[in-house]
Amino acid sequence: MKLLTAKNGINGELVIPADKSISHRSIMFGAISKGTTIVNNFLKAEDCLSTIAVFKQLGVRITEKNEQIMIEGKGFEGLTAPSSRLDAGNSGTTMRLVLGILAGCPFTSEIAGDASLNRRPMERVMKPLREMGADLQGTAEAEFPPLKVTGNTLHGIEYHMPIASAQVKSAILFAALQAEGTTKIIEKEQSRNHTEEMIKQFGGKIQVEGKEIIVTGPQQLIGQEVTVPGDISSAAFYLVAASILANSEVLLKQVGINPTRTGILDVLMQMGANIEERQLDEQNQAADLIVRSAQLHACEIQGEIIPRLIDELPIIALAATQATGTTIIRDAQELKVKETNRIDATAEELTKMGANIEPTEDGLIIHGPTSLHGATVDSHGDHRIGMMLQIAALLTAEPVELLNPEAVNISYPEFFTDLAKLVQEDPS
Ligand code: S3P
Repeated sequence: MKLLTAKNGINGELVIPADKSISHRSIMFGAISKGTTIVNNFLKAEDCLSTIAVFKQLGVRITEKNEQIMIEGKGFEGLTAPSSRLDAGNSGTTMRLVLGILAGCPFTSEIAGDASLNRRPMERVMKPLREMGADLQGTAEAEFPPLKVTGNTLHGIEYHMPIASAQVKSAILFAALQAEGTTKIIEKEQSRNHTEEMIKQFGGKIQVEGKEIIVTGPQQLIGQEVTVPGDISSAAFYLVAASILANSEVLLKQVGINPTRTGILDVLMQMGANIEERQLDEQNQAADLIVRSAQLHACEIQGEIIPRLIDELPIIALAATQATGTTIIRDAQELKVKETNRIDATAEELTKMGANIEPTEDGLIIHGPTSLHGATVDSHGDHRIGMMLQIAALLTAEPVELLNPEAVNISYPEFFTDLAKLVQEDPS
């Protein structure tokens, strides 16, 4: 696919598509609660549709009417054995969180994903769930999907997380809601807290103090109405694009600004970006963001901020190619086990376009500014790599060809058409 260029900058406004993490969880919480859950502004992208398909296979009625998703929740005990293998597609969030739910359901099921997901590590969720009493087995290679789960009686545990991961934390929390006794999780670094927030929203009890989370089970949750804010991980592509392109000003509407997700704003501001927050909607933790062109400078990114911007690191790396000085990203080894190895893919593809970028064991070193040029690049089947490369292409004078562009459908099917609305026609 030939990518857009934008030598006259980008201008205009966009409503950012719904948050992927919250959309997944809205289906899961709806399914395990009693009564009806209504979801407004659900993200109809491939990953979240995988979650809907999995819960339909588990016997949950999920329908759509007037742009709202309705889930007829039956409680954990109302889920039923699927008649065929569950398919999580490309979605790590679906697979890992569903394992926490299936761990306590009294039937056997199998779950698998696409080729990328079947290569991603599952031991990180299998270990704590087994400690809680779950029966989980790899069907082929020990810690990789397809996985077989036989629901068991679960009991609470104390678990010190060896990695910062909201998916692992959430799987344990779903199991803890079904377990007898108290579960205490001690996070390595604080990761996105949507599961904790939604346990409260759905009438459950949870105690959070710093990095310690305590849940006592079993608990019965009650269906709710959920309104999903825009995804800051999708907004990130425009935050960087408008910053690094001259003559740009973009208004991004209804962006989720949960503090466990806003590392991208902190880093861009530290690099000298011009971003303003307006129309704060405190109830939905959302705001409009206005971003204008700016001269960026390098910075160092490491430590506890990493989980707050883990999915934004490829697009931050692109911003760094346009910033003055050397940007160093450390402590981000988790990038190696995302939809693709995002450290290698970012370095490899941006190098093809003329960037000066080195992969390291746990991050990237980027020397800027460099001017980027045309090339044939590859998304590696990873939505966030594909979208980052399209933003890089906006800067080039020559054409850029993207292989495997359909990867963007995982989180943002309208990405190319939305971006085209902001690209200024050349008046000459
Ligand atoms: C997610 C957690 C993060 C993130 C992923 C979505 C979630 O993964 O990268 O895109 O919704 O819980 P990890 O928990 O593996 O860090």
